[in-house]
Amino acid sequence: MVNVAIIGHGVVGSGVAEIIINHKELISQKAKNEINLKYILDIREFNDLPYSDKFTKDFNTILNDDDVRVVVETAGGATFAYDYVKACLLKGKSVVTSNKELVALKGAELLKIAQDNNINFLFEASVGGGIPVLRPIAQCLAANDLSEITGILNGTTNFILTKMIKENMQFDDALSMAQRLGYAERDPSADIDGHDAARKICILASLAFGKHIYPEQIKTEGIRGMKLSDVEIASDMGYVTKLIGHSKVLGDKVSASVSPAVIPTSSVISNVEDVFNIIKVRGDAIGDVAFYGRGAGKLPTASAVVADVIDCVKHLAARKYLFWEDGDADYVANPDEVAFDYMIITDAANKAKIEKLFACVESKSKDDSFAAIVEKQTKNSIKAKLMDNNVTDYRIFRVID
Ligand code: HSE
Repeated sequence: MVNVAIIGHGVVGSGVAEIIINHKELISQKAKNEINLKYILDIREFNDLPYSDKFTKDFNTILNDDDVRVVVETAGGATFAYDYVKACLLKGKSVVTSNKELVALKGAELLKIAQDNNINFLFEASVGGGIPVLRPIAQCLAANDLSEITGILNGTTNFILTKMIKENMQFDDALSMAQRLGYAERDPSADIDGHDAARKICILASLAFGKHIYPEQIKTEGIRGMKLSDVEIASDMGYVTKLIGHSKVLGDKVSASVSPAVIPTSSVISNVEDVFNIIKVRGDAIGDVAFYGRGAGKLPTASAVVADVIDCVKHLAARKYLFWEDGDADYVANPDEVAFDYMIITDAANKAKIEKLFACVESKSKDDSFAAIVEKQTKNSIKAKLMDNNVTDYRIFRVID
């Protein structure tokens, strides 16, 4: 029998407890070992639950119980969660987490501790909820030299943009709807300012390219205040506006960003709507491969956590595949200094200036707006040309497929 403890009985933690208890026979069969939920750490009272006897408020009960071999961390944040996870790994307990903030900030360090102690630190649920993506990148695509990751990594912002595109809703109205439906938090900044997606692209790119990328190294722009007229003119040109996490290998560096982008309707990414996520990975042997599904939610996320628990139980005395090295300050290039395709949207009055300054691949006027896709160049060069020519009111969107 293998004893398991859960730290944090919130949305995901309670889902994990329910699955481990309700599917005990099934998951024990798959793990080829009986899995027993021994403790749940939470400072709150849960006296009415059928498994209320498992709760403890003292982390040391879990840490000092040598019979607990696997600890699930679903408390969130990177303060207590970091201390608890590190202490468990140092004690030789394998850890499974859904905590993207923790992995994005401390992944390299925690993976190294797990490696040194010959145990596992797994976090499939930290990116894309229940969508299998980290294990496929690490295992199934292992034969590939991976070069690029592009994804819709945040369901809340994808829901908001879908409402703007499909129902012509203003940004504020779409955000209120997302909050009413329970997708967006009362303080929606982690989603709409791009921080949630930035943590996820950190984890994906660190795993795919082998070296830690930290959240502060990701150029992050969200969709707060996105103009409906910008979304509409892009749509009229055949492009769908999405919040995109992107990372690309550039020799011995990588670029990494989160930003609103316009996607041609020919791209599979353009069809991903509402709260759905997609992660597209490019490898030299496989070409493009994409992972699609619901990127959040109690049971989808808990199902990924429990699958990692099963994996830990099956490999109690063996290291699994996840690993990346620590990063460094020079590893991540500024994406604004890398040449990409861009769409500029500005006031219709600037049309002649834009057409004189840039070789426009495509352009369109609509109401008071003018949009143009310009020849590949850096964002900083576009900004410098616009500034030198007194164009101040504009938005620049990466064109990504
Ligand atoms: N708030 C996130 C989203 C889910 O909307 O995708 C958790 O990462």
